Amino acid sequence: MNEISFRTTLYAGTNSLDRLVELQEEKIFIVTDPFIVESGMIDHVVRRIKQHANEYCVFSDIVPDPPVEKVVAGVKEMAEFKPTSIIAIGGGSAIDAAKAMKDFAMKIYHMDAIRVIVIPTTSGTGSEVTSFSVITDNEKNIKYPLVSDTLLPDEAILDAELVKTVPKTITADTGMDVLTHAIEAYVATGANDFSDALAEKAVRLVLRYLPLAYQHGEDIEAREKMHHASTLAGMAFNLAGLGINHSIAHACGGKLHIPHGRLNTIILPYVIEYNASLTDYRQREFSEAAMKYNELAKAIGLSPTNVRSGVKGLMKEIEQLRKKLNMPSSLKECGIDYNHFQKEKGALAEAALQDGCTNTNPIVPCKEDMESIIESMY
Ligand SMILES: NC(=O)c1ccc[n+]([C@@H]2O[C@H](COP(=O)([O-])OP(=O)(O)OC[C@H]3O[C@@H](n4cnc5c(N)ncnc54)[C@H](O)[C@@H]3O)[C@@H](O)[C@H]2O)c1
Ligand SMILES: [Zn+2]
Repeated sequence: MNEISFRTTLYAGTNSLDRLVELQEEKIFIVTDPFIVESGMIDHVVRRIKQHANEYCVFSDIVPDPPVEKVVAGVKEMAEFKPTSIIAIGGGSAIDAAKAMKDFAMKIYHMDAIRVIVIPTTSGTGSEVTSFSVITDNEKNIKYPLVSDTLLPDEAILDAELVKTVPKTITADTGMDVLTHAIEAYVATGANDFSDALAEKAVRLVLRYLPLAYQHGEDIEAREKMHHASTLAGMAFNLAGLGINHSIAHACGGKLHIPHGRLNTIILPYVIEYNASLTDYRQREFSEAAMKYNELAKAIGLSPTNVRSGVKGLMKEIEQLRKKLNMPSSLKECGIDYNHFQKEKGALAEAALQDGCTNTNPIVPCKEDMESIIESMY
């Protein structure tokens, strides 16, 4: 039996931020990062919640790849403030931190139900509609994906105007994260017709609009399509699961400190190759994942003559997109020292193997498989 549910209410399009004007006499805990405050973007929220006697408090200490300590500090402030609602505004880091804070605050301090409203300002993680929250342990240099339905936000506001300021490199990184979510969900063990439909649409939107959003940040149509693609891909992987692309990205992100989407981009061709398990031209039987990649190739308008050319065609499209976005193709190009990488390689493979996303990969990897993929990334 598959349970298909979408619990987060979406407010999308022009004036969607006006949903906040409907909040009345609430205690609102705003979780965000310093950029959102300094750029004045937070005023879009504050101006609206001030209209109806809401009390509010701002926690703006979130940093990329939010560490446990920030979550703990936020939980303490929440316990004192006792909010009725949380508004998370920012990229995946602020959103993930807010989701974890709410969960811990309710569990540790037995607080009453707290509504979580999420306003993404990057188009990438899909965290606004997922049961995931990725928190970093800086002592162990490990990123932990927490997974629980209690992490699902109640509401998400998708206003593409907020994304127009995202710089080129972050547009590329986050956009490729969307693509990776959709492709991983498409072949994950939990994939079904519903998640496939969401993933296919997300992939088509990314291929068409990410280069435009990258080239012309002010192009509101491209920004809006990417914003929607991000949420669609989030819905897809929340239903289907992810795979070892994300396991490896979590492991490497904790240790090598490269942005999440950039890591995903470097890993993607190797994981597709691994999951597809193509051998030679005489191959007659293909893995399920290979056949799904081939389906995806057709869904994006390619006309492969067989499964092998479908997989290769899809990989070529991704490679062309990566080049258009001027993204690195290896850890070496990211400036990672070879000796440092060699020293960490084994631990990275082990951490990736233990990561929660490994369970939903279409092929069960062993440590040697992980090591070999990680080795290719250099
Ligand atoms: N919960 C999930 O389902 C999920 C899925 C994938 C990734 N993640 C996690 O999300 C995090 C990455 O999130 P992200 O890629 O959105 O980046 P981020 O939240 O770390 O933000 C990256 C940078 O972009 C800046 N920024 C945000 N909005 C901006 C705007 N509108 N204009 C200009 N700058 C802006 C931020 O201030 C920050 O400096 C990682 O920790 C990753 O592991 C979570
Ligand atoms: Zn991701």
